Amino acid sequence: MTVDLDWNNLGFDYMKLPFRYISHFKDGKWDDGELTDDATLHISESSPSLHYGQQGFEGLKAYRTKDGHIQLFRPDQNAARLQKTAERLMMAPVPTEKFVDAVVQVAKANEDYVPPYGTGATLYIRPLLIGVGPVIGVQPAPEYIFTVFAMPVGPYFKGGFKPTNFVVSYDYDRAAPHGTGAAKVGGNYAASLIPGQNAHHTGYSDVIYLDPATHTTIEEVGSANFFGITKDGTFVTPKSPSILPSITKYSLLWLAEHRLGLKVAETTIKIDELDDIAEAGACGTAAVVAPIGAIDIKDKHHVFYSETEAGPITTKLYEELTGIQFGDVEAPEGWIVKVD
Ligand code: PLP
Ligand code: COI
Repeated sequence: MTVDLDWNNLGFDYMKLPFRYISHFKDGKWDDGELTDDATLHISESSPSLHYGQQGFEGLKAYRTKDGHIQLFRPDQNAARLQKTAERLMMAPVPTEKFVDAVVQVAKANEDYVPPYGTGATLYIRPLLIGVGPVIGVQPAPEYIFTVFAMPVGPYFKGGFKPTNFVVSYDYDRAAPHGTGAAKVGGNYAASLIPGQNAHHTGYSDVIYLDPATHTTIEEVGSANFFGITKDGTFVTPKSPSILPSITKYSLLWLAEHRLGLKVAETTIKIDELDDIAEAGACGTAAVVAPIGAIDIKDKHHVFYSETEAGPITTKLYEELTGIQFGDVEAPEGWIVKVD
């Protein structure tokens, strides 16, 4: 039985649910991990995650299907990305099986909070890996905590599947050319707080970051990857070592090619050559597929398909992706993991 919440009007906000998972890495190995009702972490004041940013996280969702079951979308991909993040920051990796098992346990334990089918809302799941223990020199932690918590959420960008506007950042970058842009680490998001807040205060949904070395090509959005549909019907998305490899983006690339019959390319998208792009969007777990109405580039207002209406291909991609996630459209093999 789901709890009584205003499912149709959820935002993207923290909510403390009954259960979360926690596991400790000590003396070179992970313990079995367990569900707990304690939502507070107790760690050394000298933990490297607090001082030196030795931490990483993930984001994925549990979906309620029409027949009332609960399912996950490609959790093995989140596990693999957290392993890459762990490698980049010299953290203890979480094995895929342990990661997926933890996510399943959290979704199941909090099943009353998985939003009903048809509301568009989902259970957002946040796995977190942090370096802990008494270390004061800049070095990797001796111990790690892997925790997974969750909360029901609605759309990340206002209005859900409706075009909104974004602004290009020239004053701030989220990542350095050979930095940690491809890892899902808190530091990238700390770097995005000022430009993100400036964007929100001036009415934009989020920031579009350019390549940090030359500021000439599109990298990604503060909270999502960028994609476009060119006038000749190619799905294009930036290729760069300093963007987060979005699981949603790679899923859309596959769907665009194999389900919609489009050409696809990971390529360079120049900020001063956008006239070829007919439709644009932001994609990610939280963002889902969010049509981009227009972007402001210095004093230029560049409109893509429309500022009020999503383009036809963006709409098809949204329907195909969410259809798979909610169990209405047949999924490619291995994309769906059933929770119950
Ligand atoms: N880029 C950034 C900076 C993000 O925070 C996210 C969200 O996870 C994404 C891209 C999209 O990645 P994914 O589709 O794996 O959620
Ligand atoms: C996600 O989509 O899971 C993210 O991590 C984006 C975050 C900014 C909410």
